[in-house]
Amino acid sequence: MSHSRFTFTLSLVSGLLISVALPTQANTDNSGAPIIIQGAMPVEAEHFAAKLDNVKEEHIGGWRFWKGTVDGYPVVVSETLKGMSNVAAATSIAALEFKPKAIINQGTAGGHDPALNVYDIVVGKYSVNLGAFKTPHKQPGEGSNSVEWKPMDLLASKGSAGEDKNAHSIRQFAADPQLLKAADQAVAGYQKGKVVSGVIGSADVWNSELDRIRFFHQQFNTSVEEMETASAAQIAAQFAIPFVGIRVLSNNITNNGKYDAQTGIACQDYVYDVLKAYIKDIKTAQK
Ligand code: 5AD
Repeated sequence: MSHSRFTFTLSLVSGLLISVALPTQANTDNSGAPIIIQGAMPVEAEHFAAKLDNVKEEHIGGWRFWKGTVDGYPVVVSETLKGMSNVAAATSIAALEFKPKAIINQGTAGGHDPALNVYDIVVGKYSVNLGAFKTPHKQPGEGSNSVEWKPMDLLASKGSAGEDKNAHSIRQFAADPQLLKAADQAVAGYQKGKVVSGVIGSADVWNSELDRIRFFHQQFNTSVEEMETASAAQIAAQFAIPFVGIRVLSNNITNNGKYDAQTGIACQDYVYDVLKAYIKDIKTAQK
């Protein structure tokens, strides 16, 4: 975004020249850009929307957005709906409509790491797409074995020299360092479990095959799986918007952790503290 300014010069009687730069618009400064908080389902977004001040609900297509403020700073809560396509669309709409300063995708997830329990929170240092693979060739009757599949980097492109050499390594969508710092600052306030740095895996699949889950955990270091973060991260990166995914374990079949829907509320409370820490950092930087 260009921050065009014009300059005019005052000529004072003393002969002293003073140059004054004025912004051409009232709000060309990106510091007024909102922070987007994404949640897929009503239980993952409405609790957060209720925390906003001066809130106004807006519908764009089939998606709900709540515009408001936190500590006087603009914040938009976005109900992305479930899955990779819905969240990609919601992220694109938010990018174009609100020109956000940052995006936090949050909600529930299933554990891939037996060391993590229901109510623990994973702050995604990066996310990966667990739905992008190329299978080996098999004859009719040879069946299918998903742990033989190789990751396919959907962002790799074939050049004239042939296939991109990274086409079969998994693409990592990295989190923004300032958002990670804010997530770290909020850790002390979370009492319902531990908060760890980890890897979020996303696909339009709910995996309950323990061999497949172990494969993801060992090959790609996934801590949890869900259905939105890597897609939102990919779109945010295309728009150069700082991004982080933060997920609470609502279930973990690797250690018998039973599903608990209330975890989604706990995650929103933690992310609210992350947001406040981030806003505080922005305000300090502006001083
Ligand atoms: N696997 C996949 N998605 C999960 N979710 C919670 N737990 C899991 C899991 N074990 C989330 C997804 C999606 C909805 C089905 O719940 O992100 O929005």
